[in-house]
Amino acid sequence: MRDLIVAAICVMGLVASGAAQAATVLVTGSNRGLGYEFARQYAEQGWSVIATARNPERAVALNELAARHSNITIEKLDVLDFEEIATLARKYTGTPIDVLINNAGVLGDLDGQTLGTFDYENFQQVMGVNVFGVLAVSEAFREHVATSQQKKIIGITSGAGVISRGGGGGNLHFYRTSKVALNMGLKGLASDLKDRGVVVGIVAPGTADTGMRRELVGERAAQDQDPADAVAGMMNVIAMLTQANSNQPYNYDGKPMPW
Ligand SMILES: NC(=O)c1ccc[n+]([C@@H]2O[C@H](COP(=O)([O-])OP(=O)(O)OC[C@H]3O[C@@H](n4cnc5c(N)ncnc54)[C@H](OP(=O)(O)O)[C@@H]3O)[C@@H](O)[C@H]2O)c1
Repeated sequence: MRDLIVAAICVMGLVASGAAQAATVLVTGSNRGLGYEFARQYAEQGWSVIATARNPERAVALNELAARHSNITIEKLDVLDFEEIATLARKYTGTPIDVLINNAGVLGDLDGQTLGTFDYENFQQVMGVNVFGVLAVSEAFREHVATSQQKKIIGITSGAGVISRGGGGGNLHFYRTSKVALNMGLKGLASDLKDRGVVVGIVAPGTADTGMRRELVGERAAQDQDPADAVAGMMNVIAMLTQANSNQPYNYDGKPMPW
């Protein structure tokens, strides 16, 4: 926690000196839910935002947001499409990306991930978006991040992927498995990119009322926190992350999460 506080003071100093103003963030899945909030809040803080969505033409809210904020650029990116990832990375060659937020994620079909009716095609899709996509985007953009000032790659994990809490199974086998694999994938990236000064952070939003939560718990999602609050919290955590303190996942409220 002491490391987090020291790092926060450094970041506040950067902001106060104006040095952080030209920072760039790339967000995956930014057309709705938490991704939209990341795009909105970073844009309002004056960041240059590369807001990606797999169907930009259908991203009504994001297009309206970009119309109000000239610092948002919308790009097409399906994280399952490795060619599209490579093309976008090439397009931004030479552009430093301070923070890469691997936000895009899927829950998967709930019946299809219940023991007895496992749907392995659906399993591949969940692993594809939540794990392979994160590694592929991070691999493709690692140079953009490594040449930036803040050098941060972020993955959005979930309490559903905490093995030490016990439980598991039920109708979330694939999603839980994907988030555990995501955590290990990000740990691996952190080791590989340590010498380049890259910070790889794992952050969780708690439960926030988004389409994903509606799929899982229906109307009860109305009792979850506002996505704006979850994202504001995660952005504070991201700002505080350093190589020294990022050796564990953090919840949106800054509390370390167990594995
Ligand atoms: N909400 C929570 O309480 C909660 C809790 C823990 C973790 N999380 C994590 O937070 C992240 C965001 O979740 P959310 O709640 O905002 O979910 P959401 O409202 O369902 O939004 C998911 C986003 O991911 C995008 N996406 C899905 N497949 C994609 C693909 N192949 N390529 C690119 N984008 C794709 C979706 O785009 P389309 O609109 O095109 O489908 C959408 O923008 C996820 O990683 C999730 O696991 C959320």
